[in-house]
Amino acid sequence: MIHLNLKLFIVTGLLSLCIFSCSSDERAKSQFVDENIAYATAQTDKMLEQVGEPTGKNYPRTMRKDSTLAVTNMYDWTPGFFPGSLWYLYELTKDSKWKDIAEKWTASLEPLKTFTGHHDLGFMMYCSYGNAERLAPKPEYKDILIESAESLSTRFSEKTGVIKSWNRFKSWNDSSLFYYPVIIDNMMNLEMLFYASKVSGNKKYYDIAVQHADATLKNQFREDFSTYHVIAYDTVSSNVVGKMTAQGFSDNSTWSRGQAWAIYGFTMVYRETQDKKYLDAAVKATDYYLKNLPDDLVPLWDFNVGVDGYVPGQRSYSATFQEKLRDASAAAIVCSALFELGQIANNQSYIDYAEKMIHSLASPTYRAPLGKNADFLIMHCVGSIPHRSEIDRPLVYADYYFLEALVRYKNLKS
Ligand code: GLY
Repeated sequence: MIHLNLKLFIVTGLLSLCIFSCSSDERAKSQFVDENIAYATAQTDKMLEQVGEPTGKNYPRTMRKDSTLAVTNMYDWTPGFFPGSLWYLYELTKDSKWKDIAEKWTASLEPLKTFTGHHDLGFMMYCSYGNAERLAPKPEYKDILIESAESLSTRFSEKTGVIKSWNRFKSWNDSSLFYYPVIIDNMMNLEMLFYASKVSGNKKYYDIAVQHADATLKNQFREDFSTYHVIAYDTVSSNVVGKMTAQGFSDNSTWSRGQAWAIYGFTMVYRETQDKKYLDAAVKATDYYLKNLPDDLVPLWDFNVGVDGYVPGQRSYSATFQEKLRDASAAAIVCSALFELGQIANNQSYIDYAEKMIHSLASPTYRAPLGKNADFLIMHCVGSIPHRSEIDRPLVYADYYFLEALVRYKNLKS
């Protein structure tokens, strides 16, 4: 009898300990999320004071050397991220103030629906109009997105089986000019094609996305599932004629944001197709990435910077090029991707990593003090060191994926 009572006592004690610690974990999570929402809305209010109303020429992008805000016009690759961030603030707060502002910034991008100048239309239109359609649909949004998918599809060729990223690419050693370059980043543009196929019933967009993903799977990965940044296809034979980098340390190195695009991109293609080969690619690309991270889970801008056997092209490199700078934008992209991949691959360790990543990004090392960092959220990103551009700066897409990760973290069932 005494024995039974003792057992009951222990079991009840353990149960209440679990309930207490589970609920204290939940409380800590909810405090973390709420504090980040309060911070992000306050910082974005400041950004809005700076930029005013959308003009088609004032999309926040980064910070200049003198700490002032740098903006772009709508034809750059990044104008969709600021409207997209405004949509995430609406999703996080449910405050219609953010919906009204997000609608205005999104509507300013409508002229892009016929744009065919480069491959980034998915980033431009799906981060803005895609979120708008998901959170506050209007009849015109579907048509705008389908027209955008049609414009993006003009860059696809049946012969190469891929969407052309840029119209030209010159190798860093200056030896060759290529006319059909495809970059790993391009995986991200496929999400808009999957959407357009579903809502229009036109299978063409789905087929293009799948063909592009297949060619990328075949040509853009190395055996260890690290990635080449740029693959050049021959315009006549369609053969692969170059495996290079544009923004990484060297042609044979792994640019960390490129690896991040691969992880996110293949996770998304698996979600859309349910074909296990894409899940396998996302998992292997993730395992490469995680194996090569420093303790705070924010990667160097390139995993092989300054390592023997990785030789940059024939240019005179400054000390900065060799510097072991971090790229928090890659961390934000992967953080968001792993909240999804962890759930669809049923792998709790990816979710644990994502949770640690979001805490690292929200720590004072990477999250800017209010009113600093030209009013962007995340510090210490790298645009492109080989182009001497946006080195150790905020980047609008780091903020976008940080907020997306916060939405995914908030919605995660424990
Ligand atoms: N898609 C261009 C970049 O990631 O810098």
